[in-house]
Amino acid sequence: MKSLPNTLSIDIGGTGVKLIVLDAKGSPLCDREREETPHPATPESIFRVIEELTHKVPEFDRIAVGFPGVIRDGIVETAANLDVHWVGVNLASQLEQCFGKPVRVANDADVQGFGCISGKGLEMVITLGTGMGSALFVNGVLVPNLELAHHQLKKGMTYEDYVGRYALESVGKKKWTKRVQNIIENTKLVWNWDLLHLGGGNAKLLKDVELPDTVRLHSNKSGVMGGFVLWQDV
Ligand code: BGC
Repeated sequence: MKSLPNTLSIDIGGTGVKLIVLDAKGSPLCDREREETPHPATPESIFRVIEELTHKVPEFDRIAVGFPGVIRDGIVETAANLDVHWVGVNLASQLEQCFGKPVRVANDADVQGFGCISGKGLEMVITLGTGMGSALFVNGVLVPNLELAHHQLKKGMTYEDYVGRYALESVGKKKWTKRVQNIIENTKLVWNWDLLHLGGGNAKLLKDVELPDTVRLHSNKSGVMGGFVLWQDV
């Protein structure tokens, strides 16, 4: 008898490529595996990393991917923190060919959101990593591909310039934290979210910071856990 499907959930990031296999209920079947993102981060080099990492995890029947850019119908439209050759790549069909399994792809912040939202009210997700991811959910329904990262905040500086990884490295943790707090206030004024979820690799730097009680911190793991939700309608 065919067992219920396992999902390979992949989180492609500007700094790391992570993956895990989840069982039919979304529980992990192994540890999360991670490899540094290769440079240049071309489709070929990242496919190679994914292929190598899959040798370390159990078998899977379907694939979910969070990608750091705009995704439409499985096709990459933008990839600000990866190689330019990603633009136009049909990520879903290429991975399908590579592994012979069905693939669903979405923006990484959208996938992260699926892994951490409550499903009630207006929820915003901001991921703090190499880039700045953003996602919006209304009663659990995704408004896809919200790209706050590239919106100008002030004097030609975008949100991503303000709190992305390079900003953290150049201004240091204290000033970066203040910047994140500004973004919390700004987005509350504009979007009036009920809950704001902060995820991504650098969210852990905020663990000792006093934040409004409507702001939740999440570990980077929700990036791969959310992949399960991409398949939940099946
Ligand atoms: C991309 C977003 C992505 C974010 C985090 C930004 O540069 O434009 O699509 O969600 O980085 O990876």
